Amino acid sequence: MAAQREKAKASTVDQLSRIPVRTRYFDDFLLRCLQGKEQGAASNEPLPRQVVLLGAGLDMRAYRLRVPREVAFYELDLPVVMEYKLKILRSEFADRKPYCVVKYVPSDLCKDWKRDLLAAGFNPRQSSVWLLEGLTYYLDEATCRRLFQDMRSLTPAGRASWMCASFVKEALVRKLRAQSSSSSSATSRGSGESSESARPIADAQRLSRQASENAAGAALRTSSSRKWPPFVFGTDDPEKFLKPLGFYVTSVACLGDAEANYGRFAAPFRHTMYVTAFAG
Ligand SMILES: C[S@@+](CC[C@H](N)C(=O)[O-])C[C@H]1O[C@@H](n2cnc3c(N)ncnc32)[C@H](O)[C@@H]1O
Repeated sequence: MAAQREKAKASTVDQLSRIPVRTRYFDDFLLRCLQGKEQGAASNEPLPRQVVLLGAGLDMRAYRLRVPREVAFYELDLPVVMEYKLKILRSEFADRKPYCVVKYVPSDLCKDWKRDLLAAGFNPRQSSVWLLEGLTYYLDEATCRRLFQDMRSLTPAGRASWMCASFVKEALVRKLRAQSSSSSSATSRGSGESSESARPIADAQRLSRQASENAAGAALRTSSSRKWPPFVFGTDDPEKFLKPLGFYVTSVACLGDAEANYGRFAAPFRHTMYVTAFAG
């Protein structure tokens, strides 16, 4: 059991070392979109000036990226996460200003988040950029599908909007489920440890709480009393998943591929994909 825990801890630390690369990949995508350099941009159309971050967590892009001042960021996350984030912003960032307008929108993406976004001022007649960084695998497939459908309904026909999302492959979700259930049954056989400390996934969540994704794990547990594996949805074919929902995939990069590497990795991690697409 201790060896299993160590292994889970090591792989989580490894996982955390991958997050800066993911973040940079999403940064570069967003900046290309805002500059009209992303695939699908037409020279005769206004540049997108609305950015929606679904499952924004503790994202600090608005404070990090020198985006034009007229850009509006809409950051959506569970109310408990938003509350935590605003507390941190007030206590640690009181003397700093974001580069653009930021609307913090407490919202549950399993519910009527469209209403919350529209109430915050989002204009569905203008083009937009959507970032779903580290989100899709925490939602079940039906919710994920509905989320993309809703996003599509908020993008105007005849004008390009863009999105970037991270996905994991089905095998990874299966593997985590298997790990979760085998460690739970080991616990129920009487390992002498609490079920929480015996589960590698719980260890993973605890470790990830110490990193920038911390609010995520905490919020997810607070918002739902059920125990659940950290990853619940994966797809091996994001293009097939997204096309019927109105998104045309322009690139799929695995973490560590040339375009998602930044000199960090010798080989790609085939189970994690960053997918860019446009709708319009
Ligand atoms: C792994 S974190 C990613 C955070 C951020 N995008 C990043 O990359 O650092 C996943 C985020 O999705 C949010 N999330 C998960 N389920 C959600 C839901 N039903 N509604 C709103 N946000 C949700 C979590 O609260 C968490 O902040």
